[in-house]
Amino acid sequence: MARNVLSALPRVRILATGGTIAGAQVKGERGYRAAAFSAETLIAAVPQLGELARLEVEQVAAIGSQDMDESTWRQLAVRTAAALADRTIAGVVITHGTDTMEETAFFLNLVVRSAKPIVLVGAMRPATAISADGPMNLYNAVAVAAHAEARGRGVLVVANDEIHFAREIAKTNTTQVGTFASGHRGLAGLVNAGRSHFYAAPVRRHTRASEFSRAKISALPRVDIVYAHAGMGRELIDAAVKAGACGLVLAGVGDGNLCALALAACAQAAQRGVAIVRSSRTGGGVVERNIEIDDDRHGFIVADELNPQKARVLLMLGLTRSRDPAVLQKLFFAY
Ligand code: SIN
Repeated sequence: MARNVLSALPRVRILATGGTIAGAQVKGERGYRAAAFSAETLIAAVPQLGELARLEVEQVAAIGSQDMDESTWRQLAVRTAAALADRTIAGVVITHGTDTMEETAFFLNLVVRSAKPIVLVGAMRPATAISADGPMNLYNAVAVAAHAEARGRGVLVVANDEIHFAREIAKTNTTQVGTFASGHRGLAGLVNAGRSHFYAAPVRRHTRASEFSRAKISALPRVDIVYAHAGMGRELIDAAVKAGACGLVLAGVGDGNLCALALAACAQAAQRGVAIVRSSRTGGGVVERNIEIDDDRHGFIVADELNPQKARVLLMLGLTRSRDPAVLQKLFFAY
């Protein structure tokens, strides 16, 4: 009887990459070391997980997410797709550092073709901290990944009892457990001690409706982010182009604006075939075309609602298809 109950539980695969959720404080020191614990150890610390799902674990990386890179993204995409191709697996949970979690989540949202739940989870406090947030975040993430209603919503991130869409989530605070916000279009749902409540589905294209497939991405072109500020010069833009950037995302002031020097450097780069995307350093709002800058004349692209780091992900993928600013602009209105 007990075995039947157990085998009725959904199978969920955990892909571990490290981060603070697996972090340990070092005795006598102020800080901590990310990725110190294996995924097995994290799971063993939350025995209640066994009531939610039959878990299996794969350690894909053991890094702080500041060291996440394109080759690990591709590896994660391949391992996620392989897990979800197994008919008996209900969903995937990816443990990840919070620093660059939004970028990994958005990348997977664009390249993994599956309707099954893919849930990223992290923690702001290391596993050895007083009131560590990792165990409950992990419990909630597994509950969401095992939930039938999580299907078809694209890649999700679970933290602090909230469910976020990959496209919407941003890390907004250096240390607080409530760091994540989905400012534009709101939460995907809430999850309280494993009880999930889902809200409206995402409106932009993702996963199965995405034209980007991990299978076709062997190398991603170089795209750099340049941060605008008062008194900005053109040197960093010129340096990025000289270093071989195929695309540049400007974290512009306000509505993605740039001073005259930076604008001239970007216009020249665009003439040389470098894709220029105007995003904003403000952390919210839409960057629209042709407001204070003549995007049509310069051949610029606007990021719409995407923050600079997510605009970079989409631009890298877009550049594997086309260098035409009109084609690339359409992507920013579709994803
Ligand atoms: C990291 O991103 O790996 C460190 C910070 C965190 O996980 O919260």
